[in-house]
Amino acid sequence: MSALAPSSSLRLFDDRVLADPYPSYGALRCTGAAVHLEEYGVWAIPRHTDVAAILKDPDTFGSDGGIALTALANQEILGGTVLASDGARHIKLRRVLSKQLAPRAMKALTSRITARAERLVDQYTASGRFDAIALSRHMVCDTVMELMGLPDADRDVLLDGAAATFDVFGPHGDRYQQALPLASRMVEMLHEKLIREKVNRESWMGAIFEAVDAGEIDEGDAVPLASAYTAAGIDTTVLGLADCLVQLAQHPQQWQLLRRDPDRWATPAFHESLRREAPIQGFGRLLTQATDVGGVHLDAGEQVWLLYGSAGRDPRQWGDEADVYDIQRPDNHQHLAFGGGPHLCAGIPLAELQARAVLRALAARCSHLTLDGEPVRVLNNLLRGHSAAPIAVELAPSSNSADRSPEACQQGPVT
Ligand code: HEM
Repeated sequence: MSALAPSSSLRLFDDRVLADPYPSYGALRCTGAAVHLEEYGVWAIPRHTDVAAILKDPDTFGSDGGIALTALANQEILGGTVLASDGARHIKLRRVLSKQLAPRAMKALTSRITARAERLVDQYTASGRFDAIALSRHMVCDTVMELMGLPDADRDVLLDGAAATFDVFGPHGDRYQQALPLASRMVEMLHEKLIREKVNRESWMGAIFEAVDAGEIDEGDAVPLASAYTAAGIDTTVLGLADCLVQLAQHPQQWQLLRRDPDRWATPAFHESLRREAPIQGFGRLLTQATDVGGVHLDAGEQVWLLYGSAGRDPRQWGDEADVYDIQRPDNHQHLAFGGGPHLCAGIPLAELQARAVLRALAARCSHLTLDGEPVRVLNNLLRGHSAAPIAVELAPSSNSADRSPEACQQGPVT
């Protein structure tokens, strides 16, 4: 590394920075396109353009061995997963997931997910106040447990393990040490429960075993592939959806706009909140060859840390109003909170479907959303969001269950 290369002593994973990383991200963006983080020995990539370009260049920036900051996480937790594979192996694994997560498969799920959102929104808003995290968690866990074909009894192991997995992707330290046993327990549980004889053939796991039987993937690929659904699909959506509700509660005019036309604004409202508060703040890549990032030379074997959370606030991409929550921002779907390139999140249609269903159900029922106390911030090495977010609602006068069939929800503005 050249003595003139941009570098920083920032301790990115300290509680103080995790609680509010945006000033540090701003400083990194001003320091350079790639900034060497002395504390962790990786290059932070803070600007939108560079993160987007790196995601599209998997030949230079590999995922195998480069996603997490420790060798143990890269080998023991991520080894063999779709997230941490490259080239032909990645294509082979991804093809199996794509079938189940494609927009066509989502169409078949729409009525079930819409009905679930209607029921939960009725239940949670009945008293006039609810916890956005509890509602999102209920929604997302019910969906993933059902699709995976896992019994409800394993819910807590899955929830604790999924969040812990993201702590384990960070650097050595207290958070990492505490999370390791929980993440390992989840992997053990998946190996115990997801066995050929026990799983429902109609579930995602059933389809994974079908792919094994058809010779598309090896038997040993089955559980690591399933772990992508659990680790990648739960907390991300729980935190992203709940944060969308928090941001709408903080911006009453945006909520009114969404209520007037939920079909039009529910998806942009979700994307705008992901842009502003990416549920996964960063992931790594390993350089397979030397290259330049924005004029900064990086050597083969070095690691970059792609700051999705910083890219979403980069004024070079989003203008001077980058920090503002604006569901009408025309290009907000171009955020990088879902990654990009060949590893672009495979679960976007499912995340969108769930978010739309909840937002529409809330729009049909609630004329006002406001924060009912300070949301409690989660401190996780990679994830950003809350562990509790109290919201008060004013129920719309016309709100009653009979008017809230999925069809009624889709029929334009609610008065
Ligand atoms: C708001 C919700 C979500 C967010 C913010 C999110 C974010 C991400 C990100 C950033 C990546 C790219 C990782 C990389 O850079 O290498 C990713 C990949 C992935 N996500 Fe999501 N995700 C969400 C929901 C879901 C859901 C619901 C599922 C499925 C149940 C899912 C499944 C996956 C899978 C399988 C991958 C790996 C794709 C690959 O490596 O080819 N995600 N997600």
